[in-house]
Amino acid sequence: MKGYAKACANIALAKYWGKSDEVLNLPAVPSVSVTLDALVTETTVERDASLSGDEVVIDGARDEKAARKVTALLDLVRAQAGVSLDDPRRFARVSSENHFPAASGLASSASGFAALTAAGARAYGAELSLEALSALARRGSASAARSLFGGFVELPAGVPGDGSLAARMLHPPSWWDVRVVIALVTKAPKAVASRDGMRETARTSPYWSAWLACSPGYAHAVKEAIAKRDLEALGSTMEASTFAMHASAWAAVPAVRYVRGVTLDVLDRVEALRRAGTGAWATMDAGPHVKVLCAAGDAERVAAAMRDAPGVIDVRVASPGDGVVVA
Ligand code: DP6
Repeated sequence: MKGYAKACANIALAKYWGKSDEVLNLPAVPSVSVTLDALVTETTVERDASLSGDEVVIDGARDEKAARKVTALLDLVRAQAGVSLDDPRRFARVSSENHFPAASGLASSASGFAALTAAGARAYGAELSLEALSALARRGSASAARSLFGGFVELPAGVPGDGSLAARMLHPPSWWDVRVVIALVTKAPKAVASRDGMRETARTSPYWSAWLACSPGYAHAVKEAIAKRDLEALGSTMEASTFAMHASAWAAVPAVRYVRGVTLDVLDRVEALRRAGTGAWATMDAGPHVKVLCAAGDAERVAAAMRDAPGVIDVRVASPGDGVVVA
């Protein structure tokens, strides 16, 4: 009747941007990520037959907007568990805590939907493999499919209509002791949800077809670099994938632009680090924050440079993290 799960966020090394099937939430391009131990979500799902709807509390506050997404995902879990969607006693109390830098606007949907799916499956008694959980979490957020797994993870592109698509682990966290230094530049929530940004990019950007054409190559090169533990190859391909994704969005009409001036200032710092001989490479997702990939031994130097950068309000250092834990 009750399930608990803990999941980490992840950062894409080869980016997912755009869908091949909006209903099944299938990505149009393959992506590769590393799960991050420093960004954790803990979620409890407890069935309560007295409720007339799912009750959702996130970071201590009732959240009606999130509740609709939570119910949509839990309905999929309930269907897997054989719980009828007509059963008036099917609802649950959901409580989720994000252990993220306070009000950071960092994406918590990956860890959030991964933890919700696993906790929900436990609460409703659905015995599902990690792969099946990943395919379900993908319906909430495609990046969440990757957060079921630890270490280095791949999510292939989806074939329209094939709802079974799941992520898979390429290598465990112990494979490669890299670091991701997270530089937060604002506390403001993101301007455009990634879902809307992707839709507008696909609909109006002249660079959309170029993005689709380039993405499989980025994912392939990222996987090769991880297999060889070649940080320079990984970092430079991650940057190429990042800038191609943002360029495709920027060329949408009207522009979908996530970077701010302070983002560019931080990117200058990362380039300066590289010029001075420290291997450091940057990436951004659907927001202005910068995440910097580097070797474990360089993490303190990179973090210090980020703390020193104008406009940076908080810096965290993450290592490759574990997959979902259920209890
Ligand atoms: C830029 O997984 O949040 O972070 O599937 O629509 O919920 P939906 O999108 P989401 O998109 C993440 C996009 C990204 C790149 C990535 O994580 O691969």
